Amino acid sequence: MGDMDPVKLMKQEVGRAAAAQVKSGSIVGLGTGSTTAFAIQFIGERIAAGEITDVVGIPTSFQASVLAKKHGIPLTTLDEAPRIDIAIDGADEVDPQQNLIKGGGAAHTREKVVDGLAARFVVVVDSSKLVDKLGSTFALPVEVLPMAVAPVTRALEALGGAPELRMGVNKDGPVITDQGNMVLDVTMPGIDNPAELEKTINNIPGVLENGLFVGVADEVLIGEVIDGKASVR
Ligand code: 5RP
Repeated sequence: MGDMDPVKLMKQEVGRAAAAQVKSGSIVGLGTGSTTAFAIQFIGERIAAGEITDVVGIPTSFQASVLAKKHGIPLTTLDEAPRIDIAIDGADEVDPQQNLIKGGGAAHTREKVVDGLAARFVVVVDSSKLVDKLGSTFALPVEVLPMAVAPVTRALEALGGAPELRMGVNKDGPVITDQGNMVLDVTMPGIDNPAELEKTINNIPGVLENGLFVGVADEVLIGEVIDGKASVR
């Protein structure tokens, strides 16, 4: 297993397995985050090796577009692309029904557009992301128009949540999304009905999108390390 930390190794192997699903001629939704970064790297390597041809990517974030360019994946847009064949993206939590919480990278609004349009949405996670109930380990990200942060905060509190404005790494200002908005991370007492909560939160004026992805995933690839050996199931 070398010196690589086990979580990173799981992410790498699951990224490799997802990249192996990309076929020649595919339009590929490129997700955001450290796990998808491996998938982007391996798609690029497969293109460079001539294993797959005529592949184009649709990035879900500035980060994904930078990585795609670095690894030689040509990019297109939803204006140009007639379809998305496969999207590969990470998640912060996955429940037994394959519903997700996403948005740890503040990219869930564009991710929901791209992942939801894909004929096949493959989720790549390490085994630490599996939960019995959504909201148990990760606060739900909600992208909000900056001028509406105060009323949306109150509305989320009225729903029983505890919202916190996401701050940048140096804590000297809020995280700003690729769309120029802010993110409230909402600790919920336990999400019993993710489908209903997804709609309820998106109905609050000023909310762009929340990180609940219900019934969108077609396959979840899970990286795990057993007896020091990384595998994917
Ligand atoms: C970004 C996301 C990511 O996919 C999610 O946060 C998982 O990231 P990582 O693979 O780094 O654990 O939803 O908005």
